This record gives sequence, structure tokens and C-alpha cells, in this order.
Amino acid sequence: MAETPTAQTASLEGIEGELLAAVAKAPDLNALEEVRVAALGKKGRVSELMQTLGRMAPEERKSFGQAVNQLKERVGEALDAKRETLGRAALSARLAAERADVTLPVREGPLADGRTHPVSQVADEITEIFADMGFSIAEGPDIETDFNNFTALNIPPEHPARQDHDTFYFAEGPDGTRPVLRTHTSPVQIRTMLQKKPPLRIIAPGRVYRSDSDQTHTPMFHQVEGLAIDEETHLGHLKWVLEEFCKAFFEVPQVKMRFRASHFPFTEPSMEVDIGYAKVGDEIRIGEGDQWLEILGCGMVHPNVLKNVGLDPTRYQGFAFGLGIDRIAMLKYGMPDLRAFFSADLRWLKHYGFPSYAVPTLAGGLGQ
Ligand code: DAH
Repeated sequence: MAETPTAQTASLEGIEGELLAAVAKAPDLNALEEVRVAALGKKGRVSELMQTLGRMAPEERKSFGQAVNQLKERVGEALDAKRETLGRAALSARLAAERADVTLPVREGPLADGRTHPVSQVADEITEIFADMGFSIAEGPDIETDFNNFTALNIPPEHPARQDHDTFYFAEGPDGTRPVLRTHTSPVQIRTMLQKKPPLRIIAPGRVYRSDSDQTHTPMFHQVEGLAIDEETHLGHLKWVLEEFCKAFFEVPQVKMRFRASHFPFTEPSMEVDIGYAKVGDEIRIGEGDQWLEILGCGMVHPNVLKNVGLDPTRYQGFAFGLGIDRIAMLKYGMPDLRAFFSADLRWLKHYGFPSYAVPTLAGGLGQ
């Protein structure tokens, strides 16, 4: 027998209709929560209905109780469904509002603490300048043959220049010669001329070793070798290249350079080059003043060297130079003590080092 709706069940339908309408109307999650509290909370409409049960006759209480529970369930389902819809809408709105701007600068992370050592930075600056003048990069090993480091460079056994180099020697090999830790980058000249035919234009940055240590000398240091060989390169070209290099490297419109006659076994004539600077307080100004600092050795490649690599000195000629990287790094960036370069002190590196994005380019600036 179908139950006839009592007055209470009729009013239940009304209440359910109201609550469902309120759920449907809730514009956002906060409003929906208010609706939930008002409906199902401790003092909400459903609790109120439950409290009326106590005053009912047992039969009526049973059917009314069931009806209220079903109402509670349906309102709960409606709330859940609405919550999900509103939640999804809220997420889409947030995603649309919080768009990431990929053009913003990158936030500094732990990687930003890393620094490029000034020697690496300066080697890159030098490379960039000479590359722009048409020189390519050549390399050689740190452990060299006696022939490449000395003999081919016109420094035969017993030559006094061998004593000047404070060489680190290895044990004698089967051929009776001792390999060395290269004392200069000049052996890369020999390697290049043995491998390739002129015209040649190379620079060779790298480590070199001499048994010598004080405030301005460390047993390992860095040089860049330069070599240009063809049929007509002359001393004027050498001077121009070095002058252009110094202007670009020190980023000044004019430099003062002094070419002093000197002697190297592998060049004839040979020169040492000083650069003029002024010291104003702690600051070093290149291109001003009357102080001089020797920065490189150079000259026209000696005919004997050309002969040693099988080139005809009546046909080929050219220039070579060797530049101390550490020294010009000290000069350019005002670093007073060479030993600090190799002491692996993170505080020093943080102060004098370069951020990894400061890649030297002629267009963008060398030492940003
Ligand atoms: N190799 C020389 C040194 O270490 C520097 C040098 C001088 C290199 C003259 C050259 C040069 O190429 O032509 O002291």
C-alpha cells in the first residue's frame, strides 16, 4: 500500500528543493561551503529536522527518519557534484590567470654560485680576439718530446737556453731522450708546421711548467702561442696584430707598446714587448702613464726552425709570439698575487671569477 504523504514529508520536499536550489546557485567554493554548513552542519536544517524525531510517534519516526536520511544523502551528493564542478572551474581560472612569463630572468639557483676562473676567462677573451683576426686554435700535449720543446725550436742539446727554462724532466725513454713537461707553448708551432702546409695562422693557449716559485712565478702557468706562416708575412704585420690585440683585450682606443730587441733561439730578429700603464691609486690604466710591464716575446720565425719542420726558408717566412696569460689577467683585472690563482680558495674565485653566462665576445664585450 502506497503511503500517503504526511505533512512532514510534504515539507521535506520543500526543504530539499530549497537546499538543492541553494547548492545549484552557489557561485564559488566558499559560498558552497556556507550552503553545506547551513544544510548539513551541526546547527543546519537537516539536524533541526532530526531533532523533531524525538517528538514523533514510533511509526512516524521510522518513515520520517528514513526520508530525512535520504534527503541528507541527496543533498550531500548534490554538494559533492557541485564542489567538483566549481573546483575544476577555479583551477582553470587560476591556470589562465597565473600564466608563466618565460621571458622573465632566471631565478638564481645553486648553479649560479659557480664561477669561471679568470685564467679560463682571459684565455677565452684572447681566443675570441685572434679568432676574429683569422687565427684558428691549435693544441698540443702537456708532456712533450725533447725535440718539439727544444731541438726543433733551434735549442739543440747543450744550448745554454735549456738551462733558463728550469725544466721538469721525465725518465729517459728507449730512444735515449727525456720527455719534458713543456716549458712553453712554442712546441705547438712545431706540431702545427709538421702537420699542415702554409699558409698557417694559429694560436695555442695552454699550460706550461717550470720549476720556479715565488710571488710572481708558479711551477705551472699559462701561455698563448701565436704563429703565422706564409710567403710574405713580415714584421709590420706582427706589430699590427699585437697592437690590435692589445687594444681589443684591454678595451682601450690607444695603447702604448714598446718593442725591445731581445733574443730567442727560435726567432730572428727577436723582441720583447712591454705595455705602458699608469697606476692611479689601486687602479691600473692601460694606455696611460709611464710604467712598463713586459707581456710577451715575439719575432720572425728563425730559418733553422723552418728547416727543422721541412719548410724551405727561402720561400716561407712568418712571425711567432708567446704571451703570458696569467700576467695579462693580473694586469687587466687587478689581481695582485699570482699564487692565489692556483690556491683553489673559493672566496678568491667568488670575488675574481666570472659568471658562466659572461662568455666573451667582441660584439657583446669581453670582460663583462
Ligand atoms: N717561448 C717563449 C718563452 O716561453 C716565449 C716566446 C718568445 C714565444 C718569442 C715565441 C716567440 O713564439 O717568438 O719565454
